[in-house]
Amino acid sequence: MAGRMQGRRLIVTGAASGMGKAIAELFAAEGAALALLDRDELRVREVAQQLGATAQVCDVAEAQSVDAAVGAAVTALGGLDGVVNAAGVLVAKPFAEFDRATWDRLIAVNLTGPFNVVHAALPALQAAVQATIVNIASVSGVMPMAGTAGYSASKAGLIMFTKCLAFDLGPTIRANCICPGVIRTEMTRYLWENPEHSQRAADRVALKTLGAPEDIARAALYLSSEDSAFTTGSEIVVDGGFSWR
Ligand SMILES: NC(=O)c1ccc[n+]([C@@H]2O[C@H](COP(=O)([O-])OP(=O)(O)OC[C@H]3O[C@@H](n4cnc5c(N)ncnc54)[C@H](O)[C@@H]3O)[C@@H](O)[C@H]2O)c1
Repeated sequence: MAGRMQGRRLIVTGAASGMGKAIAELFAAEGAALALLDRDELRVREVAQQLGATAQVCDVAEAQSVDAAVGAAVTALGGLDGVVNAAGVLVAKPFAEFDRATWDRLIAVNLTGPFNVVHAALPALQAAVQATIVNIASVSGVMPMAGTAGYSASKAGLIMFTKCLAFDLGPTIRANCICPGVIRTEMTRYLWENPEHSQRAADRVALKTLGAPEDIARAALYLSSEDSAFTTGSEIVVDGGFSWR
């Protein structure tokens, strides 16, 4: 049976680790041709080799390096049908301890990064028959949490950026985002490696567990495939019931 991503060509950022990697693995298993972008050269090349994908090393916050990486990806893939922006960074600390450099970096990677990638990919996406953009935001973008003024602001911005893209780029390009809750990845290792902290975080969630990267990959598959043909400008919350109250 043909995979749900057969014939589709996509860029996945942040694909060296966590959700981006799980998304790349699922998309490859469903038949997609992939270009994987990450700043972690060693790991992105490893993942790309395992999946028969092409790897591009770049910092999504650097516009010129993104232009070059996306250009090379489009050439390697022979066109582009979609983008998944999963690259991101988290810094959480009380606002009184927040410095300007931390703020700038959070906005540069988590908000300007997806802008850079979509901007560079736009001509190729516009040439596709039906294209998709999926941005990995966060429940932090829809609910305030202690210590996350910078991170939450970047993710709230990403959600609204996505909605505006849906307006401006429809009907041939759909743009949606996913808001994960706490997912076991490198980003949250500090939390789930400590059994006490992990239990406390799980207890706050209706499903009493933390999420896996594969939970997010399945949502990304839905939003990047024909299954979601009538869905654009939306955010899908995948958080086990963390943010609904
Ligand atoms: N883990 C969670 O609980 C959680 C929850 C909500 C949202 N998110 C978001 O999900 C996305 C994926 O995070 P993850 O949990 O898989 O983290 P992760 O740390 O496992 O993976 C992030 C990947 O992004 C890459 N990356 C970071 N900055 C980059 C840059 N400037 N340029 C290129 N690549 C860069 C890293 O090298 C890494 O491979 C992020 O946007 C994150 O903010 C994570």
